[in-house]
Amino acid sequence: MTVHFIGAGPGAPDLLTLRGRDRIAGSPVCLYAGSLIPAAMLDHCPPGARIVNTAPLSLDEIIAEIQTAHDAGQDVARLHSGDLSIWSAMGEQLRRLRALNITFTITPGVPAFAAAAAALEVELTLPELAQSVVLTRTPGRASTMPPAETLTAFAATGATLAIHLSVHNLAQVIADLTPSYGSECPVAIVWRASWPDQQIARATLATIADAVAGKPDRTALILVSQALAAHDFAESSLYAQGYDRRFRPQSADSKFAGGEA
Ligand SMILES: C[S@@+](CC[C@H](N)C(=O)[O-])C[C@H]1O[C@@H](n2cnc3c(N)ncnc32)[C@H](O)[C@@H]1O
Repeated sequence: MTVHFIGAGPGAPDLLTLRGRDRIAGSPVCLYAGSLIPAAMLDHCPPGARIVNTAPLSLDEIIAEIQTAHDAGQDVARLHSGDLSIWSAMGEQLRRLRALNITFTITPGVPAFAAAAAALEVELTLPELAQSVVLTRTPGRASTMPPAETLTAFAATGATLAIHLSVHNLAQVIADLTPSYGSECPVAIVWRASWPDQQIARATLATIADAVAGKPDRTALILVSQALAAHDFAESSLYAQGYDRRFRPQSADSKFAGGEA
């Protein structure tokens, strides 16, 4: 018996990986994490599967479901939205499973920030403008932040920020970022990226508060970066004419000449 943790992607049913689909199909029990998992994802479960929404359950109750499946020798598909490496609560489940000697696998998924960038049709790392993406959040009722992980500290780097779980806290985000990024810095908010009811607002730090009037206050990503609205950025050296590289040696005496194809 194995518990298969599966990143179910940002919402669109066809953004599930083939491996994830196959592991769902092979598991007679499916535990899924609430409304961010589309119903169509559950169509991959085998006929007669036990399908449980874990949103109202405690960790103890979730582990009890897994233990019951374990005792019956039934594999479990454990679905979380996006990818499992960020804000999935997988870590605490893995710790319990290790203590119980229950085996597991982990199948990554498409994270929401990647779906949001795709919806905006942008690259988050443009040459000379931004070469780092900070995946972060603001404190929530259930989660404090480590003291050094403040938006103002991240803002000092000028990196692209992908701020999760924070659209309800937009006024504070604007106040924290404006001193470093400037009021004209581009901001985009994507609600429910890749879902049929996806919405997008594009603005600046000065105008984003007005742009979100009447929009939902959950399931959105706030992206802040000069890269969001840049047009005259430099091209990358990698594809430049004359750039000597392993796959495109520029002369017979290049250190890459005669290397692997
Ligand atoms: C508990 S976290 C889950 C993150 C997820 N594990 C991932 O890889 O993206 C939930 C937060 O992720 C963001 N999020 C998840 N799905 C989203 C989507 N389809 N569109 C926009 N933001 C989304 C929102 O900030 C939401 O509050």
